[in-house]
Amino acid sequence: MRKPIVAGNWKMNKTVADALSLVEGLKRDLAECKKVDVVLCPPFTALKAVADAVTGTHIDVGAQNMHWEKSGAFTGEVSAEMLRELYCHYVILGHSERRQYFHETDEIVNKKTKAALAANLHPIVCVGELLEQRESGKTEEVIEKQVRGSLAGLSSKELLDTVVAYEPVWAIGTGKTASPQQAQDVHAFIRGILKAISDEHVAQSVRIQYGGSVKASNAKELFHMPDIDGGLIGGASLEPRSFIEIVQGAF
Ligand code: 13P
Repeated sequence: MRKPIVAGNWKMNKTVADALSLVEGLKRDLAECKKVDVVLCPPFTALKAVADAVTGTHIDVGAQNMHWEKSGAFTGEVSAEMLRELYCHYVILGHSERRQYFHETDEIVNKKTKAALAANLHPIVCVGELLEQRESGKTEEVIEKQVRGSLAGLSSKELLDTVVAYEPVWAIGTGKTASPQQAQDVHAFIRGILKAISDEHVAQSVRIQYGGSVKASNAKELFHMPDIDGGLIGGASLEPRSFIEIVQGAF
């Protein structure tokens, strides 16, 4: 049985003060949540404050990016070890916004994934097709290339420590959600790729989140599809009530 995982990707939102007030709003309902792994991914600047604020609860903290090297002359970058030091347990990698605006390739995402795992961080590896790719019937081709490229060379144990997030780019921040069946089809396809690169046990154990305009009103339907194991939530994770209701949709 896979335990659902719901993560809030706050993107470039929330000052430290705003972040702390959001965490306070979430804690009453989510601090003791054991049925779902709840992860908050604030910007780097608020990581420490959020990690301190959730100490002693069941809520976990994740970052939104990292560099693959341990240290060195990489101005503006942050390493896996630096994130671990702040009690981060997850890191989102290869988000479509990073692929699109910061030119991250599957090869870069793969290097970051390996570095995260080596530092005992759980990578949340994002994949997803553009609208024109879906419309021209290329969804599976694109997803297969991204999954194989981003996860290349990982051992079974490393794959088991990894979370995959399927985020169709056309559904991110657009209010256009993939239908539960559209998302389920791609999730099942991703599980098939995991089986091909590893084995049945890995394919059945790795958690695959859906992301893209998940709201309190559509979360339950999506999360109850057989291969959807929770969500990666953008806009609706910035406000306590909607995020709490989304998490509850995964029960
Ligand atoms: P929205 O939930 O705002 O569509 O964003 C999804 C996302 O990109 C999460 O990583």
